[in-house]
Amino acid sequence: MGKDRIVSGMRPTGKLHLGHFHGVLANWKELQDKYDCFFFAADWHSLTTEYSNTEFIQPSIQEMLLDWLAYGIDPQKCTLFVQSRVPQHAELNLILSMITPLSWLERNPTYKEQLDNLDTKDLATHGFLGYPVLMASDILLYKASRVPVGHDQLPHLEITREIARRFNYLYRAVFPEPEAFLTEASKVLGLDGRKMSKSYGNAVFLSETEEDTRKKVMSMVTDVKRPRRSDSGDPDRCIAFTLHKLYTAEYKREEIVQACRAAEIGCVECKKLLANQIIEALTPFREKRKELAAITGLTEEVLEAGSHKASFEAARIMQEVREAIRL
Ligand code: TRP
Ligand code: SF4
Repeated sequence: MGKDRIVSGMRPTGKLHLGHFHGVLANWKELQDKYDCFFFAADWHSLTTEYSNTEFIQPSIQEMLLDWLAYGIDPQKCTLFVQSRVPQHAELNLILSMITPLSWLERNPTYKEQLDNLDTKDLATHGFLGYPVLMASDILLYKASRVPVGHDQLPHLEITREIARRFNYLYRAVFPEPEAFLTEASKVLGLDGRKMSKSYGNAVFLSETEEDTRKKVMSMVTDVKRPRRSDSGDPDRCIAFTLHKLYTAEYKREEIVQACRAAEIGCVECKKLLANQIIEALTPFREKRKELAAITGLTEEVLEAGSHKASFEAARIMQEVREAIRL
């Protein structure tokens, strides 16, 4: 018996941040030792919203791949590729779009939500409505049995399962119904206390400079009920402290709690400590990333080999699909 197959994609949006570091990447790194993993840059999915602004997609794929590699996602262990280099994703997407009822797509909660929220773009397109069908194609094309995704992607995975069931019923049993592997939401809050996200402008990027990280940490909001250094503070009300919980050893953190409550430490000093901790934790990653970025042709080589391997699998399974529908 071979290992179970896992497929997951990330839309290329540029450099990854601390949220990814403690969320998706940590998860992928664990999975790569136990499963046959296919991880890819979902550049066609980026097109669903960014069709009028495409120049950032290519560079984002490169940045994202460097982050994956520097983190330790290992191309010897898993298949790393780019969606658009495996055209069978589009072929399967077309076929699955024939059997997917419109009502499944129209009632998709992420669809409705994004239509309302992203009101600066015209998203009343065929492609945007069909986002989950393309995602189903990504997954079914490799007969994945498990899909690591965050909570927000569960409705899409449910549609994938429905599409697989419908295909198997209409033609013959080709696709397994993939199960979600829920990625725990990362506990990292952004600089402003909201979820860390590039689009909120509140992120610490894995590959930024130490000075940038330091500046950002120093700008963080602390306990708002502690306007003066001489007032006592409460770490439970402090956003900076949520990061101490991730980066500072427990005994040191307890000292900080005491000192904060007793007004014996100032927020500037406390955040300096925090910045040092974060920088220290990221240093091995950042050094590795610089090393990798200096190797000419590395990203291309990895993506070329991975896309080749993915295409091979995809071609095999598409053959089965065509036979099942007698084309
Ligand atoms: N839709 C996913 C996201 O926005 C990315 C994605 C595309 C994906 N295809 C996939 C995830 C297939 C898992 C499997 O995060
Ligand atoms: Fe937050 Fe530290 Fe200031 Fe206390 S001393 S409020 S924990 S930054």
